[in-house]
Amino acid sequence: MRSLPGPSSPQAPYNWGGSTRLGLSASRPPAGGGVGRAGPERLFPGPRPGRAQLPAAPTMAAAAAALGKIWARKLLPVSWLLCGPRRYASSNFKAADLQLEMTQEPHQKPDPSKPLVFGKTFTDHMLMVEWKEEEGWGQPRIQPFQNLTLHPACSGLHYSMQLFEGMKAFKGSDQRVRLFRPWLNMDRMLRSAVRLCLPSFDKVELLECIRRLVEVDKDWVPGGNNSSLYVRPVLIGNEPSLGVSRSSQALLFVILCPVGAYFPGDAVDPVSLLADPAFIRAWIGGVGDFKLGGNYGPTVLVQQEAKKRGCEQVLWLYGPDHQLTEVGTMNIFIYWTHEDGVLELVTPSLDGIILPGVVRQSLLDLARTWGEFRVAERKVTMKELLRALEEGRVREVFGSGTACQVCPVHQILYQGKHLHIPTMENGPELILRFLKELKAIQYGAGAHEWMLPV
Ligand SMILES: Cc1ncc(COP(=O)(O)O)c(C=O)c1O
Repeated sequence: MRSLPGPSSPQAPYNWGGSTRLGLSASRPPAGGGVGRAGPERLFPGPRPGRAQLPAAPTMAAAAAALGKIWARKLLPVSWLLCGPRRYASSNFKAADLQLEMTQEPHQKPDPSKPLVFGKTFTDHMLMVEWKEEEGWGQPRIQPFQNLTLHPACSGLHYSMQLFEGMKAFKGSDQRVRLFRPWLNMDRMLRSAVRLCLPSFDKVELLECIRRLVEVDKDWVPGGNNSSLYVRPVLIGNEPSLGVSRSSQALLFVILCPVGAYFPGDAVDPVSLLADPAFIRAWIGGVGDFKLGGNYGPTVLVQQEAKKRGCEQVLWLYGPDHQLTEVGTMNIFIYWTHEDGVLELVTPSLDGIILPGVVRQSLLDLARTWGEFRVAERKVTMKELLRALEEGRVREVFGSGTACQVCPVHQILYQGKHLHIPTMENGPELILRFLKELKAIQYGAGAHEWMLPV
């Protein structure tokens, strides 16, 4: 093992918009979007995830006690004070402490002329950080890709104490590798960790560790305008005992997969959806708006049911009014003339059952910058969609997500009827425009505020 040289931007004040790395003013307010509006704050209504780990406002008595402790510490001998920084350091791991162990057995990179199946090929290295309640976070390590050794009682396996993220790095036409809006994934991941009572971490440090991992394996990032490197951060409870309780141990790791084109060529293939209100993905008061593994396993059966009924994916409905919520593992968008006669792009608002998708946010940001039609975040019901279809007002229906970016919908099986959605007949103009704009940002040669150079 050897220590990595210091991070390329060690303790620089971090700007979630990435502007520090792009040489823009660090005094600007955090902005996640090149269009000047996006920002991690906009992904999640309510308090910022980073703050969620803070305890609730203390009472006067508690505040006085805390102050007393601070003063008592100031009076303690120096030897005690020396423990302070060490204790603090382990409550957040630091990219500056990264250890690097390079593999002795590098694998063959995939043949660029053969299609890459999603999630089946992994790079040579992975990031690993261990956490223990007593000791806090250990040193982050970049190590050869390897199996985990888990206690058979591991809480991640028994009680779904597990969360994950998904984002992509792209090789630009200048051959530089860049991550797409990773700040939003870090925000979402920390929010999931807080929800599962798993240890919190410093988003800036984790992102820097991930950047360094991608840098180590950058030769695995496929070239070409349709391929990318999928980055999968995972945090699991690793409590080695039974009982549903807060985990006293955890593992954070990140693995990487080179992935090929979702749609071969420049054409896009539409999907058909099963919309059956008997199946519910998420509910108010639940955890559908967090990226927890437990949200996904139970959807496999429903996906199979969709296949049995001749559909490719599931349209998740919710409530007695059959609200459209998400498509498979994508957010949903409808581009139509609303019943008030206004052309609009609408997607369900982040009301607690919708995963705050990074691509969702990006499409909203782009469309709002264009300013050519109304962009709305609100509830949409099947009744509204049926009426709009009857009246010929629907232009395009599509899903959005990291895997495909944007995916057209051409059919919905609902209450025994196959509803035809005229997405493809309409170009699909908006979908193709979104794909083109996203590609220009992701594979472009220039700096863009949404891209973090590796
Ligand atoms: C349920 C669900 N909705 C939406 C999305 C799209 O999110 P993103 O755009 O961040 O990939 C995903 C994918 O992560 C998902 O799992």
